[in-house]
Amino acid sequence: MKAVYPGSFDPVTAGHLDIIERAARIFDRLVVTVFPNPAKAPLFAVEERVAMLREVTRHLPNVEVDSSEGLLVPYVRRVGARVIVKGLRAMSDFDYEFRMALMNKKLDPEVETVFILTSSQYSYLSSSLIKEVASLGGCVTGLVPPVVERRLRELWPVQEPGPGS
Ligand code: PNS
Repeated sequence: MKAVYPGSFDPVTAGHLDIIERAARIFDRLVVTVFPNPAKAPLFAVEERVAMLREVTRHLPNVEVDSSEGLLVPYVRRVGARVIVKGLRAMSDFDYEFRMALMNKKLDPEVETVFILTSSQYSYLSSSLIKEVASLGGCVTGLVPPVVERRLRELWPVQEPGPGS
């Protein structure tokens, strides 16, 4: 069975990668798709987000990375899938994700949303928090894949090394 894991991935975090790896063990094929989120001003261009995702998923043969615009559910159908994968961190995610899942169900009743609970060590992570910490010179080692950390350090050199540095 094929599934789509959509998101803004601006940038991909260790929490996203954990969901991707676990979803790739459940589904035969997983398409990770970068969508613009009009509610969020992006840091990285879509092409760069796709490139980073491709690099960090190179070890997963059944995962492909794509980008799209417009509504999610017709895209899911176009790529031959019927399942949307979303990661769920805390109750604070639930209301938003619940409303999106119900709206997507209304738009196409045959497309199912499947939630994968975050691993506890990543439950507080978000791309926004990573960007905030990195932009203020904080260390994000272990919270994002190395390629993302390199890109963030190019933008903002680390001023506050982590305890292990
Ligand atoms: O990582 P994010 O920002 O939480 O991802 C949100 C995303 C991209 C999954 C959501 O904005 C989305 O589905 N966008 C596609 C447009 C769409 O279908 N919107 C209606 C959703 S009910």
